[in-house]
Amino acid sequence: MNQRTPLIAGNWKMYKTVGQATDAARRLVAAGGGVTHTEVMIAPAFTALSAVSAVLADSDIYMGAQNMFWASEGAFTGEISASMLTDVGCRHVIIGHSERRHLFGESDDLIARKVKAALDADLIPVLCVGETESERETKKTFSILDKQVESGLKDLIPEAGREPVIAYEPVWAIGTGKTAQPEQVGEVHSFLRDLIARRFGEALAGAIRILYGGSVKPENISALMSLTDVDGALVGGASLDPEIFTRIINF
Ligand code: PGA
Repeated sequence: MNQRTPLIAGNWKMYKTVGQATDAARRLVAAGGGVTHTEVMIAPAFTALSAVSAVLADSDIYMGAQNMFWASEGAFTGEISASMLTDVGCRHVIIGHSERRHLFGESDDLIARKVKAALDADLIPVLCVGETESERETKKTFSILDKQVESGLKDLIPEAGREPVIAYEPVWAIGTGKTAQPEQVGEVHSFLRDLIARRFGEALAGAIRILYGGSVKPENISALMSLTDVDGALVGGASLDPEIFTRIINF
């Protein structure tokens, strides 16, 4: 049994107006009070962060953002800085989600700068990594993950209590209803933990939380959470409905 507290995170993507987001957050607070076996985080759209933060203020539910830019301020039209996120109550920030990588062309280098800027601002980055279907079919899964983690964490100086979170999200399992099989998830998570141990030492490898993401549902969360190296989940579609997300939280 490891000492890592699990983290169940909900990525709301580009869904929910401010009213819809605060309503969902209120329902989660009402249903989720007193959960101690896991940490919970929700990541609403930027426009809803302030309002959702007020709803979560007296709860144990953390708030994260879905993206940020690495510069602290400046002429970067349309971007949001780490300090703007902490200012509205974010504790986490999702970085390098596959939709950012594939739809918006984010490179490993850009992602590494964001991870560093998040850590410098005391935000916990949730670094997303994952292979595409064709990369898996051509047996490139491990080399791709190696590259994404090596690059994403290249500026990391391990420090106790300030570990980033890694989310393994096979691209072919996101929003497709195709969850990776427990054996596939277990294999990748232990590969990632070994990689962290080799690169940054056993202490960080033992402390870092590695989440699984990709079609997580109430029906598959328990099997995933029973795997030794799975420390939680990053949930997209199934986090939008507070009742369904609560069932996942209570795995
Ligand atoms: P999904 O999304 O749960 O809808 O597959 C996961 C994610 O994109 O983080």
